[in-house]
Amino acid sequence: MADTTIELRESKVKDERAAGRLKHAKGRASRKQKKRASPKPTVKELLTVAESEARKMRAVNPAQYYRQNLGQLGFGDPEHALVQTIKELMDNSLDACEAMGILPEIDVSLIATEKRYEVVTNKTKEGSIRTFPIFKVMVEDNGCGVIRNKVAKCFGKVLYGSKFFSFKQSRGQQGLGVHAAIIYAQLTSLEPAIITTKTSEDPQGYRVVLKIDTESNGPVVESNEETSFNRPHGTRVELMVAGDYTDKVESFIRELSLANPHAELKFKVITSQDQEPHVLRFKRANDTLPPQPKEIKPHLLSMEPGALLEMKQNDTCCKASRQFLVKHFVRLSDAKAVQILKAAGTNPDASPKQISVEPMLKAAREADLMRPPLDVLSPIGEEALRQSLKRMYPDAEYIGAVAREPWSYRGVPFQVEIGVAFGGQTVIKDCDRVREGVFKSRVIRLGNKCPLIYDSKDCLLYKVVKEINWRNYKISQDEGSLPFAPMVVIVSLTSTKVPYIVPGKFSVAYHEEIHEQLRLALQTVGRLLYAFISHRQRQEHEKHRQSIFQIYAKEVAKDLSMLTGSDENILFNKLLEASKHRKIPKPISPRSRGRKRSTPVPTMEAVDTTAASTFEESTTPEAKTVEIITPTQADQAMPVSLAVAVDAKPKKKQSTLEQFFG
Ligand SMILES: Nc1ncnc2c1ncn2[C@@H]1O[C@H](COP(=O)(O)OP(=O)(O)OP(=O)(O)O)[C@@H](O)[C@H]1O
Ligand SMILES: [Mg+2]
Repeated sequence: MADTTIELRESKVKDERAAGRLKHAKGRASRKQKKRASPKPTVKELLTVAESEARKMRAVNPAQYYRQNLGQLGFGDPEHALVQTIKELMDNSLDACEAMGILPEIDVSLIATEKRYEVVTNKTKEGSIRTFPIFKVMVEDNGCGVIRNKVAKCFGKVLYGSKFFSFKQSRGQQGLGVHAAIIYAQLTSLEPAIITTKTSEDPQGYRVVLKIDTESNGPVVESNEETSFNRPHGTRVELMVAGDYTDKVESFIRELSLANPHAELKFKVITSQDQEPHVLRFKRANDTLPPQPKEIKPHLLSMEPGALLEMKQNDTCCKASRQFLVKHFVRLSDAKAVQILKAAGTNPDASPKQISVEPMLKAAREADLMRPPLDVLSPIGEEALRQSLKRMYPDAEYIGAVAREPWSYRGVPFQVEIGVAFGGQTVIKDCDRVREGVFKSRVIRLGNKCPLIYDSKDCLLYKVVKEINWRNYKISQDEGSLPFAPMVVIVSLTSTKVPYIVPGKFSVAYHEEIHEQLRLALQTVGRLLYAFISHRQRQEHEKHRQSIFQIYAKEVAKDLSMLTGSDENILFNKLLEASKHRKIPKPISPRSRGRKRSTPVPTMEAVDTTAASTFEESTTPEAKTVEIITPTQADQAMPVSLAVAVDAKPKKKQSTLEQFFG
């Protein structure tokens, strides 16, 4: 009985459910029919364009931004990215050593792994896929290291670092470099960054494996642990990046070593699995630490009105405007602050909030403010630059360096230095060959002692070399292009803030003051080269003259012997002696031709190039020996560099025998 009741109940429930389903189905069908008959406007269609745009709006964090625009930081493609990774890591290493006041010892290794990175391209003939090896990049330094609780943020949060707010010369400026390299690594290889670091106070090293979460701009730490570190202090960064190995990598490290003669660099590369490692060691050219750069406050004239407005509004520590100016800006005495504020119509004792920004900046421009302190920079140094060039180009015929006095642009201190290596096989190897025997000079650009690799055409440091009229200095040139001479020119700019055009730090923007200092320094270098080339031309000319003389001297000695009855050999030797002791006239610099100097040239040892001993030549002893060679042989014997230089100047009259005796 009970069972039948249950069955009845169950069948009733089933019927009810079936009826319900039918009802729902009918409802759905009628709703569909209704929809078809009169389509309801969707929410989307009801929104205006502005409203729908507004719905898409959200804040972008810097990590997201740079993940999508890695090209701006030099990580646009595997070829650029590999050099840029090494550059960013080595820059940080050098900065960390400089912060500690220690001679840098940096190891770099680049090992191709089995992993591959594929990109779609239509460049290749085989298909549209291009494959690049994934390299394991490792840079290890003996710098100050990073304290444990800062490692994750220092390497895992974009725009986080120690240099952005300090007004001090350093290679890094923004807090972007290593982060961009880590983002590029995780995008191309999916691998995290491994950072091992040790400070001098920490008894143990500390190893962190992390990735950057670009959505939240923060570190995702995969593991952290104590570990041993083989140096008393320092940092090792390991990344897996897709790259295309070219000789740009090696040339970057060579240039970095040139700009940092006090650094010892070791570079090991294995470009494919079956290859032997290629190891390069750049020993330091000198053991002298360059002066430590000093931190200063900003100069009032370097402030944009908007930045000053924000600064005074956010200031909470100064009661009076005069106090605000003295506290936050360099080279402003209380008296000067009062003078500026009064001229701007602000009560010097009123709150900083009362300052009207634009009149005050106008008053500051008219107040003849002192320039920022200029001894805060750490340039390469003339002597160090010369040593560095000598080490890199040991057979160069001439090596010179010029440093201008520090100057300032818009309240920011800067200093320019120029180095030059002229002639010799190692220099020729570094220059582009235009045609047989003609070479285009090479320009190495340095921003805070770090080579700038890309976008040279937009860079002030490059453009100014082309603007110089090198023909004035006996070097041939097509107007507005690089000189035609086997010559390497180093153009270096050091500053508390190098005005880069893009955050990737590829090229320097135009500033009149920097341009002027560069021009003057290059002109000084031009004069040094002029003196050298003139001197060498005279030497060659003298050699040529003597070779001609020797051809005839024997005949003359014979005739004289017949006329005078003296011994022919004695006469011949005397004639040779007389010709050897003729002094080579001193070279005349273009400046000394009655024109007055418009700007003072910095005093330097290299300016006095009249004495042959100041030239760093590899061929001096040979040049002094007298050989019997025919005029055509003499021309052939001329070094390529001089041949180019001679080419540039009108042909000189050949000395005749009569002139020689006369
Ligand atoms: N090898 C290192 N040794 C010590 N500290 C380091 C090292 N590498 C990075 N750091 C720290 O991490 C921070 C971030 O480095 P990152 O390269 O991203 O920026 P930056 O060097 O400050 O500026 P830039 O973007 O111009 O390179 C640095 O400011 C520094 O404090
Ligand atoms: Mg950096």
